[in-house]
Parts: sequence; structure tokens; C-alpha cells
Amino acid sequence: MSVNKEIKRITTNTLQKMKANGEKVSMITAYDFSFARIFDAAGIDVILVGDSASNVMAGHETTLPITLDQMIYHASSVIRGVSRSLVVVDLPFGYYQSNSKEALASAIRIMKETGAHAVKVEGGQEILESVNRIVAAGIPVMGHLGLTPQSIYKFGTYTVRAKEEAEANKLRADAKLLEQAGCFGMVLEKIPAQLAKEVSESLHVPTIGIGAGKYCDGQVLVMHDMLGINTEFKPRFLRQYLNLHEQVTGAVKQYITDVKRNDFPNEQEQY
Ligand code: KIV
Repeated sequence: MSVNKEIKRITTNTLQKMKANGEKVSMITAYDFSFARIFDAAGIDVILVGDSASNVMAGHETTLPITLDQMIYHASSVIRGVSRSLVVVDLPFGYYQSNSKEALASAIRIMKETGAHAVKVEGGQEILESVNRIVAAGIPVMGHLGLTPQSIYKFGTYTVRAKEEAEANKLRADAKLLEQAGCFGMVLEKIPAQLAKEVSESLHVPTIGIGAGKYCDGQVLVMHDMLGINTEFKPRFLRQYLNLHEQVTGAVKQYITDVKRNDFPNEQEQY
């Protein structure tokens, strides 16, 4: 990664200032060099190398199977395409839950082997010791509360979380604990908008919502969903900005036709 002095990089401090100034944070997932380069040049604030790579890149049903080595491969590809955005990498399932030393070792591998700027972990009070240890080592940590996909088998469903008061209270408390532990921000996934508003207003660090309404300090979407590469996934919270599935299908069908007709390559397209 070369440092370009002309470009003002987004840092975790930038995000704190954005919240203080009421400027919303834009975040999107990416898993490879080419898309990361497009998103960075388009001006996205934060690129998340999400463990959703397990779903959208590898075709698994859940995020659980992806390994730390696979996350490192995706993150180092992303980093090579980025000159401005803050790059956050998910710690995958099974590499931080056992104990805080293992969590720190995983976070160090991500920082050392990818050049990324921060890690993200799912959960609150249960993983607090790990968050403390990673933060103490100087590694910025982003939290993730609400519908945490690594716990899908505990929830049993991808429905909205924290609708009941007990779960909402735990989320409120977890958000405070994560902030006190030094998290520079947190994702709030699929929770009621009013709860996300309350939590966002109670914190100094920014909240980044996905299916958590308009009062979060920023928003994140999975690139395959917002670009319409996945067309089967249509939750209410998703705004689809493109229908890449349709456009790519059309382009490839045209290419097949051109090849079959011996229309491609033409005279100008050969040596
Ligand atoms: O892995 C991921 O893409 C995420 C987002 C849904 C926030 O964690």
C-alpha cells in the first residue's frame, strides 16, 4: 500500500468527527481488489471486508464456515485497491470467541498480513475481554450488535432482533460496554429504528445501521445486495441501486450469440 500525500485518508478519528458534525458515514462491503478500487474512488468512507464473503463469494448458507486465512486473502486484495477509505475486516466465527488471547492473535494476523485498519467483532458483554485486549494492543475495533449472523443458529431466524424489552435492554447495555471498552463505532443490524435512534443518541461513537433505520450515524449494505447481483434477497431494508444480475446476464448472452455467429471478433478486433 503506497501512501499518497494528496489523499486525505479516512481514519477512526474522522468517523468520530463526522458523528460530532452530524455527517453520515457511508459503508459498503467489498471482498476483492477491483470492486474495492471502484468504491474507494467513488468516495465511500468505510469498506467492510465482511464475513458475508462466506455467503456471497463462497456460496455458503451462513457466515460460519469462512476461515481466518480466507478473510486475510480477501482483505489483502481489498487493501491493494484502496487509497482513501477506512478498511475494516470481520474476525470470522471461531477465531475470537474461545478466549481473549486467541482473539488478539487473530486480530494481529489480520492487521499484519493484510494492512487493514481495523477489525470488527460480533457481540457485547460475552466478548468484552477480547475487545479490551485487542484495543489495548492498539488495534481499532468496531462492534456489531442486533442480528449478529455468526449467532444465526442461536436465533434460528433472520428476523428483526430486540423487539422484546429484555433483548432491547441487553443491546442498550452492550452498546455502552463496547463504547467504554474503546470501540470506535458499531454496526446495528436489523433492530427497530426507535431503538437504534436511542442507542445512537446515547453514544459518542458512530453507529452504522443495516436494517436499523434512518437515525443511525451511518449505513452499510452488502455490495452484492445493493448492486443487484443477488436478486433473490429482498428484505424491506434493502435499497437496490442496480440490477447487475440482469445487466450481466444480458451482456453474457450477447457475447455467446456473437461468438456462435462468428461476429466476434471482427476485422478491427484482430491482429
Ligand atoms: O459481514 C457483513 O457483511 C456484515 C454486514 C452485514 C454489516 O457484517
